[in-house]
Amino acid sequence: MAENIEITSGSKAEKYQRLYPQIKALLEGENDLIANMANVCSALKYGMDFFWVGFYLVKNEELVLGPFQGPIACTRIAKGKGVCGKAWELNEVIVVDDVDQFPGHIACNALSKSEIVLPVRNAKGNITAILDVDSDAYNSFDGIDEEWLRKIVQLLS
Ligand code: SME
Repeated sequence: MAENIEITSGSKAEKYQRLYPQIKALLEGENDLIANMANVCSALKYGMDFFWVGFYLVKNEELVLGPFQGPIACTRIAKGKGVCGKAWELNEVIVVDDVDQFPGHIACNALSKSEIVLPVRNAKGNITAILDVDSDAYNSFDGIDEEWLRKIVQLLS
């Protein structure tokens, strides 16, 4: 297995285009979900220079903090609460340009200003986790992030 992710410069799309095959290769041959989530977090944190990236795992009727990279974070989120709980409830990707404008946003860190949140589904299509990516700048996420992060979470299905 590679010991390092090749960190590249360039546009956001170019970074994802170079990072995705490395993540795909990293996950091949490993079937443990938590281990793969942990490596996805590291690859995204360092490959895309995100402020915070992590997974919240669906456990019974709430989300519980799983593998992540970045400042410490809140450990439990109820369904429908915050951006993550709302993405779980609605079963959809949510992009937040300004967290202060999102009703009920949960501020695990005051420096978080924008975020993108995606459901992670298993082979049966059931939501098993939520991927949360935070930025310390406003308006950081767009369709390019959604397109590539969808591809990446698909690798975990
Ligand atoms: N902001 C998220 C909570 C998770 S922390 O950002 C890591 C939310 O509102 O669901």
